[in-house]
Amino acid sequence: MARKIILDSDPGHDDAVAILLAVGNPSIDLLGVTTVGGNQSLDKVTYNARAVLEKAHATDITVYAGCDRPLVRPQEVAASIHGETGLDGVELPEPTRPLGDMHAAEFIIKTIMENEPKTVTLVPTGPLTNIALACRLEPRIVDRVQEVVLMGGGYHVGNWSAVSEFNIKVDPEAAHIVFNEPWPVTMVGLDLTHQALCTPAVQRRIEGVGTDLAWFVSGLMDFFRKTYQDNQDFVDPPVHDPCTVAYLIDPAVVTTRRCPVDIELNGTLTVGMTVADLRGPEPAPEDCHTQVAVKLDFDRFWDLVTDAIERIG
Ligand code: BDR
Ligand code: CA
Repeated sequence: MARKIILDSDPGHDDAVAILLAVGNPSIDLLGVTTVGGNQSLDKVTYNARAVLEKAHATDITVYAGCDRPLVRPQEVAASIHGETGLDGVELPEPTRPLGDMHAAEFIIKTIMENEPKTVTLVPTGPLTNIALACRLEPRIVDRVQEVVLMGGGYHVGNWSAVSEFNIKVDPEAAHIVFNEPWPVTMVGLDLTHQALCTPAVQRRIEGVGTDLAWFVSGLMDFFRKTYQDNQDFVDPPVHDPCTVAYLIDPAVVTTRRCPVDIELNGTLTVGMTVADLRGPEPAPEDCHTQVAVKLDFDRFWDLVTDAIERIG
């Protein structure tokens, strides 16, 4: 049975690849895409999500727009990485499917409450604002979701500060809510996603699929490579967000370690840090509801991404 997921995203070059992987893999049943202000303003990322679905011929999937700013703090976008549109470097098709007529948080709640308990998984790949809001609006969703598999944080590295990752840093209060609810949370953080590099060999392989979509992805990667070289001192860009979906398709692609994780809200230098307690014991007690992603099977990951692009056609 395909895994039912809601992708909560802020496309974003790597969010776009996450959407394509979810659309193009038969083990995933993408119930909807929700958007949150993050990499760019809510309007821009919402347009991008719809355009990416259009590009993937997935016009049966609806996009629902959510929060346009963090719960408490002023909005901070990642134009230095994703450009002014949030998806700079490619031409986007005009979306034909209308935007969903519900707030993202409402769609999340409605979907979880209408489906059998423990059958819907939340996959946030942007700031956690919508998910936190949904928890507060309808606390019963916490018991009903299957799990939360999110891209965010990092237990050893940061990218938006020395110790904080973008998705968590821009809305740490939302992250605090999500990590402290007792649902199963898998943190697919930078420790893992920095292994998901789009090397030139990977990119040539994607281009080898030969479709318009494959060249679209390659265009995204060209832009992403340049901004990662200019701003983050990388040679090849780390394609963070699809690692979450890959883990759900095949858990063997991502090795995880169970450990407590909490969010720093008050540090003068460390706001938004995902503080993972790796002191042991191992394995962590069964009642520990958080785990962190540790190791990526690089080849298998890119096989899944390339395969999805190929299947979409
Ligand atoms: C995360 O931040 C965004 O720029 C990316 O889309 C990814 O979700 C990486 O820190
Ligand atoms: Ca993202």
